[in-house]
Amino acid sequence: MQNTPRLPAASGPLDITEQLADAFLAEGLCVCPDLLPPDLTAGLRAEADQLWADARFRPGGVGATGDRQLIVEIRSDRIHWWPEQPTSLVQRRYHDLLEGLRVAINRRTFMGLFDWEGHYAVYPEGSFYRRHVDVFAKAPTRQITVIAYLNEGWTEADGGALRLYLDPHDLTRFIDVPPQGGTVVIFESARYPHEVLMSHAPRLSLTGWFRVRT
Ligand code: OGA
Ligand code: MN
Repeated sequence: MQNTPRLPAASGPLDITEQLADAFLAEGLCVCPDLLPPDLTAGLRAEADQLWADARFRPGGVGATGDRQLIVEIRSDRIHWWPEQPTSLVQRRYHDLLEGLRVAINRRTFMGLFDWEGHYAVYPEGSFYRRHVDVFAKAPTRQITVIAYLNEGWTEADGGALRLYLDPHDLTRFIDVPPQGGTVVIFESARYPHEVLMSHAPRLSLTGWFRVRT
């Protein structure tokens, strides 16, 4: 993407979030390779791997809470929701980055982003998530989707790209983002339909949403 911020290696968290907010607000979409420091990516991956080993993932649902259905034809990932407050150092670091971004966006807009919810997601080999929009009609609190990828050495043959549709009325216009570790994708939840193409290798992401109060 043209608006991809290239972050100077020495920039502190504040610089990163200010640049990110600007890049995101330019077109409501920002794809940022190598945004997460490698040790943070590795730490989050290790935490998710441990949760997986402890059988702490469940099949992802479709629809808002209270209206949730399990539809394996639509999505076949398994998820682990983060606690409301960080419970580990890596969660704290990622949370701090998101907080900086949330505040930076609020300062520039009247979005009134209030909090964040998110989960680890594992897509076992052969899994996918069909085209969808992240906002539930009955509970439209999600404003901005932020996805961080945690996979090491992802190759094209592994599939599993995030396909972002740039125009909901023209499905031939899309970009494919490989889920390479350290990449972060930010987009307006209501504006960009997207899907996860079938993954041919286990695929790990950390997906979350900035929300408003309704
Ligand atoms: C989702 C989603 C995309 C990804 O969980 O809603 O679209 O790349 N995830 O993991
Ligand atoms: Mn989604």
